[in-house]
Amino acid sequence: MIGNDNLIRKIRYSQCKEEYMYLTDSTDRLIIRRHPEVYDPAEDTLLLAENLTVNKNDRVLEVGVGSGYVSLIAAQKAESVVGTDINVHAVRLAKLNARLNNIRNVDFVLGDLLGPIGKRFSLILINPPYLPDATRIERRPIDLSWNGGKDGRSMVDRFLGEVEEYLDPGGRIQMVQSSASGYGKTMENLAALNFKVKKVAEKRFFFESIYVLEATKTE
Ligand SMILES: C[S@@+](CC[C@H](N)C(=O)[O-])C[C@H]1O[C@@H](n2cnc3c(N)ncnc32)[C@H](O)[C@@H]1O
Repeated sequence: MIGNDNLIRKIRYSQCKEEYMYLTDSTDRLIIRRHPEVYDPAEDTLLLAENLTVNKNDRVLEVGVGSGYVSLIAAQKAESVVGTDINVHAVRLAKLNARLNNIRNVDFVLGDLLGPIGKRFSLILINPPYLPDATRIERRPIDLSWNGGKDGRSMVDRFLGEVEEYLDPGGRIQMVQSSASGYGKTMENLAALNFKVKKVAEKRFFFESIYVLEATKTE
């Protein structure tokens, strides 16, 4: 388990000027380069990373990689990891972070959602933008990290519409969801697609709660 309090302190400290973040869990110490137009690893990132259920045979896809931190944690246990992001700065940064940490079984590609990918995976990860914004105007690439459209669900609903095509029979999804954008609706939609869904982690803040959901495709 990651020493969460220390980690969050480090993140808060580095939220100002540091160019690098050092993130430590019981087995790994990753150095993560930052970029002003890319989402820094934050509480939701860490909640997902801490609760990954990756096996050594897993072929993992992460949609919306940001800095690449979650993919790099997954890559240390999985057979291979591919990550996508629609933000070119994120893809470049994730590649750089893989090199900095000498992690080689990972590849990052630019593209919209699952679009750039032409194969199936045993585990798919996503921490989508989920904050509601009626205007949905992205002024900067970093806005793609948080802006979930009118009801906060624009990326997650598109993802749910496509994900089955990219998942092995019996494959799993692990995803971050928020009370701000109807995580119950996500659970219902997954159940309607014949996934078995459970909540594997939860973190409460005074303004919202965030969850990690795990969904397994029933065959
Ligand atoms: C909340 S951030 C999460 C980043 C990283 N996975 C993490 O947990 O720190 C959401 C990421 O999704 C990316 N994103 C937004 N819309 C996307 C889309 N349509 N296709 C691919 N990535 C997208 C953003 O650029 C951003 O990097």
